[in-house]
Amino acid sequence: MSRSSSKQSSQPSPNSLVAECLNRFKIKDMNEWSGVNADLIITDPPFGIDFSGKPDNYNRDAGRVVDGYVEWSADTYERKIDQLLDCLTRNLGSAGSGLIFSGWNNSNVIHNQINQHSDLHLEGKLYWVYNFAPYCRKRPAHNVYEIYWVVNNPTTYFYSNECSTAHCTSGESNLSALVFKRDYKKGMPKYPTRLPFGLLRCLLEHYSEPDSLVFDPLAGSGMVGVVAEFLGRDYLLGDLNRNAKGVFQNLLEHYHDSASSDTYEQQMRE
Ligand SMILES: C[S@@+](CC[C@H](N)C(=O)[O-])C[C@H]1O[C@@H](n2cnc3c(N)ncnc32)[C@H](O)[C@@H]1O
Repeated sequence: MSRSSSKQSSQPSPNSLVAECLNRFKIKDMNEWSGVNADLIITDPPFGIDFSGKPDNYNRDAGRVVDGYVEWSADTYERKIDQLLDCLTRNLGSAGSGLIFSGWNNSNVIHNQINQHSDLHLEGKLYWVYNFAPYCRKRPAHNVYEIYWVVNNPTTYFYSNECSTAHCTSGESNLSALVFKRDYKKGMPKYPTRLPFGLLRCLLEHYSEPDSLVFDPLAGSGMVGVVAEFLGRDYLLGDLNRNAKGVFQNLLEHYHDSASSDTYEQQMRE
């Protein structure tokens, strides 16, 4: 792990590093956070479509998917998105950026609520193109997520025009369309909608610096924290699902173990 490299003998043991990382993941309602003063908030709200992540149309063993995912009902979706935007306002630093993921179904609600929110400015919109459209052989399907980029001050946000993933090393430094595959982890506990390492690495490198504080109040598997940890960023995570923290622990241990293998750098750049 880069922030406190486990490869040096004078550093804490891997177990204590993981314990320190777990302390950054709070079982907490997004409405309870205030004053975090984050430089970057990356968050991926529930979809509002009765999603459980359990159906067998997913390209994985549903038996390994942990329980406890908290979905938002369609009739409360607008209010929940408002609460999420208020959470961003309370916890974003003055020069910070927020990146809010959205599937296509309720993207209009997120867009409308951002436009009506007096304290947040919509600075742009990005698209993540992924390799996961379960029905695509049978009918046309979406394999794109939208990412709303919001700031509270359009003149002071941080942005770097390069990153170390293939997005910039072999493509154009253009944040409109981010093409990243989902990274499946065989034999590990699974979290519905876990975001891939490469995509988050790309976003963190473009929107944060080594001393930045990164925050995700709807952390799920905690992938935002896993990537922040490996890039040496400070971070805080929250979720209402207690089982999510166990998935976070498994992912930390997995990436920690792969850090000593030859394929690590390759994995990190995908
Ligand atoms: C789409 S998932 C996030 C997945 C995550 N991006 C990942 O990579 O694993 C949304 C998460 O929000 C959590 N959640 C829903 N309502 C919440 C609330 N009011 N406060 C905190 N977490 C909540 C759900 O339990 C779920 O884990």
